[in-house]
Amino acid sequence: MKTIISLSTPSQLETESLVAIVLDQTDPAQKEKNKKDAKPQLKVETSDDSVRPSTADLLGNGEMTGKPFEINLLHKPAGLKAKRLLLISGGAAKKFTSYDLRRIAGAAVRTLKSRGIRSFAFIAPPSIPAEEAVRAIVEGALVGNFDPDYYRSDRKDQKIDALTILASGNSDQAALEKAANEALIIGESQNFTRDLVNEPSNRMTPTILADRAKKMCQEVGLKCEVYGADKIKEMKMGAFWSVAQGSDEPPALIVMRYEPSGAPEKPVLGLVGKGITFDTGGISIKPADGMEKMKYDMAGGATMIGAMRAIALLKPRVKVIGIVCATENMPSGKAQKPGDVQIAMSGKSIEIINTDAEGRLVLADGLFYARQLGCTHLVDAATLTGAVVVALGYANAGIFANDDAMYERFHKANDEAGEKMWRLPLDDEYKENIKSSIADIVNSGGRWGGAINAAMFLKEFAEDTPWIHLDIAGTAWMEDQKPWIAKGPSGIALRSLVQFVKDFTG
Ligand code: BES
Ligand code: MN
Ligand code: ZN
Repeated sequence: MKTIISLSTPSQLETESLVAIVLDQTDPAQKEKNKKDAKPQLKVETSDDSVRPSTADLLGNGEMTGKPFEINLLHKPAGLKAKRLLLISGGAAKKFTSYDLRRIAGAAVRTLKSRGIRSFAFIAPPSIPAEEAVRAIVEGALVGNFDPDYYRSDRKDQKIDALTILASGNSDQAALEKAANEALIIGESQNFTRDLVNEPSNRMTPTILADRAKKMCQEVGLKCEVYGADKIKEMKMGAFWSVAQGSDEPPALIVMRYEPSGAPEKPVLGLVGKGITFDTGGISIKPADGMEKMKYDMAGGATMIGAMRAIALLKPRVKVIGIVCATENMPSGKAQKPGDVQIAMSGKSIEIINTDAEGRLVLADGLFYARQLGCTHLVDAATLTGAVVVALGYANAGIFANDDAMYERFHKANDEAGEKMWRLPLDDEYKENIKSSIADIVNSGGRWGGAINAAMFLKEFAEDTPWIHLDIAGTAWMEDQKPWIAKGPSGIALRSLVQFVKDFTG
């Protein structure tokens, strides 16, 4: 998708479709008081008054509720040079933020591309600072532009090719173009991640994932090394190997390095991703119902690969190392069994009581290895537990941290990136749950507080290095389509990670 920043007057622009946001100006307090007869006061968000006449009847006659994502498409709108005018409601004006704007932009893309339209112009709402608005519109539009139906013979591959953003006339065009370009890099990287996650496990083995990472690194100028089974065993990554040993597909340890000249020696940020290309559960095998979803168990790894792409192109002045531990989790005659004891790279012994708790095993060695490579700060992303879905549902990813300052920074990045994450605790009390009578720790702390038990396990390997853990099991895959995004891989966490890295100074 190409983006164009335009300072022209919306009514004067020739385009396939103009898109404008409609907001309800009703005072929310007033609305509470006279609930029944409170009519929405709908207003088109633009400073160009010539857009209004064509919308006056529709907005005034009570047909529209003004609820978010309500859509109206006018053809040959009077007084406009555009062929169409798409009105999308954004809800209450008082509550409207760039979070909503991002989704509205995605909805505009999905509405128009489904009609075969390939280009349009979006009026940036004057109520949001121009640069912030441009970012949100471009990122949201790219999210909306993705569809997962790759292998359908009737795939239409409908896409928006060109997006014009109409900013208010007195904006700094160069600054807005910079914002648009950065947002484009981030949005395209998010879709790159979604591409990887979307592939089924027969087409996204650890080897293929590593090849895709290598190719990407070559394209954007990153160093990339990939290690196989021999090196994993030689480095004594006993936790990672214990999962990989059961599969006929060779595992891959993917190491991507961004080391810009002029960056300070420290900090070094390590991004560690869970790359289970298929999770059967192993000998503790999962039920058949829904097992097909476990092709997305490499979403954390794919997020880190996509984040490294964005970082390489945005060029922040900080060193970043991306590490993905990729393997299948399979039952077989070579697979590990419940009760087995494994020695992790750090030297800690682990009693395996459930072979389906494999993500924490590969990450244990991934996190420890990142510290050996000199990482001073760590972030991991993983579709780690079903329990995080029980706790937070599909709306929020789980976030854990052993360092409050690092958490606060990451939380700020969440806000700016328009992603929702909710912090869960890591109190010492939970350590009881992962005690073993034969080894240092067990790999499953049982059902209660399952997402926390998993995070407590990882904490044993982050030790005193400031670390953040993102459990994206409930958010990496959209169970249903939404107006702004297709059903399928979401690319969650990438935007927050990139935002976090952009102004990371340690
Ligand atoms: N990959 C799963 C977690 C998962 C569940 C991801 C649902 C996406 C959607 C993980 O490896 C797993 O199996 N976790 C177990 C841990 C348990 C055995 C302690 C779980 O959550 O049941
Ligand atoms: Mn599992
Ligand atoms: Zn898993």
